[in-house]
Amino acid sequence: MALWGGRFSSETDKELTEFSESVSYDKRLYKYDVLGSKTHVAMLAAQGIIPKETAEAIAVELDVIEKRIDAGDFELKAELEDIHMHIENALIEKLGDEGARVHSARSRNDQVALDIRLYLRDEITNIAEGVKEFQQALVDQADRNGDAILPGFTHLQHAQPVLFGHHLLAYVEMFARDIERLLDCRKRVNVMPLGSGALAGTTLPINREMVCESLKFERVTRNSMDAVADRDFAIELLSALSIFAMHVSRLSEDLILWCSQEFSFVELGDAFCTGSSLMPQKKNPDIAELSRGKTARVYGSLMSLLTLCKGLPLTYNRDMQEDKEPLFDAIDTVNKILRVYPPMVAGLEICRENMFSAASDPALMATDLAEELVKLGVPFRTAHHRVGSFVKWCRDNGKALDAATLDEMRETIPEATPEFLDLFSPESSVAKREVTGATGPKAVADQIAFWKEKLT
Ligand code: ARG
Repeated sequence: MALWGGRFSSETDKELTEFSESVSYDKRLYKYDVLGSKTHVAMLAAQGIIPKETAEAIAVELDVIEKRIDAGDFELKAELEDIHMHIENALIEKLGDEGARVHSARSRNDQVALDIRLYLRDEITNIAEGVKEFQQALVDQADRNGDAILPGFTHLQHAQPVLFGHHLLAYVEMFARDIERLLDCRKRVNVMPLGSGALAGTTLPINREMVCESLKFERVTRNSMDAVADRDFAIELLSALSIFAMHVSRLSEDLILWCSQEFSFVELGDAFCTGSSLMPQKKNPDIAELSRGKTARVYGSLMSLLTLCKGLPLTYNRDMQEDKEPLFDAIDTVNKILRVYPPMVAGLEICRENMFSAASDPALMATDLAEELVKLGVPFRTAHHRVGSFVKWCRDNGKALDAATLDEMRETIPEATPEFLDLFSPESSVAKREVTGATGPKAVADQIAFWKEKLT
């Protein structure tokens, strides 16, 4: 029982220990903790703060501990609170007073900050790489089936025909910005906090630059209070992950709609769907739905950390132990999505005929008519109005737009020429959109070529 245990029963004591521990989840930091401690003792020895032999003995023992944890041969106890205490305790058990020197000029506050930053640096690199593979899967799919024509939507209403490749490459652009955000955030993660002590630095003559260089950080933190108090770098990562998950969620929504009976534009691989326990005919797009659902978890993590930090006075507060589970959960969730989603995109089968027939409603070419009038010198607003009246006339007379004769068209569009009657094909509508960034076949081929080169 702890010294202050008099007013607690041993049962509550156990509950308090369970309540306080973080080792059940911060154990994933162990490799970074070992690396940080090895670097720290090497610096302490170089500065004459601890004997060289002690630093060497500690480094050897830290490797042993790491291997034991790797092998699952390392008992974790709630009483030792976190992974940092476990490793230090194991060192002391083995090396006695020598091991007890490891924590010179260090607090768990700057140690935790260091470990999280080391961990996030690696995770960010991996996630950015995973997002790039996701882009690759989209580009490959665009390369294979990108020439299919489907209706593009605004307000979930048929708007204008677009190439399937164009639609997919929109996500490739979004993911490119996600990668930029991740790597930009990594710059701010990549700053070395060790040496900040509990909050005020240390009186011992440490060499922070040496630790910084050996752990390949960009620079050392400038303010010890900031270094132990803030988690903005983690919040930034969670917002980058939230935005990425939001993009994945929108892609999921597109796929879920597209594979519904109403659209029937795509067929997802059987492995990515499940049946219903009741309805024998069902094939549900579970992986897309779950990715959309898991986006909520990632947002939840962001909200947790923002809320966690908003009321904390400087500097470290124990509340901050609660930063890890949401952070790890968001990272795990995104990593899971990154493992299952690209193969699903790669295996996507498309139903060209259904896409094309949905894009063949002549009303989707109404804008093309208006633009044709602009080419003839009609001001756009007037052109828009005339074509609008033509659409209304067709509706009122129960005719498709392409079923009207030239004379009928001229009732509402006096400037119409015989060529106007040929404006209703989705292929030619798409083919005429060759400005940079538009959905024309050449413009889309340029996008594909750009991404193929960029992704190699
Ligand atoms: N388990 C704590 C955490 O993860 C370690 C830091 C504890 N520092 C302290 N002064 N109690 O945040």
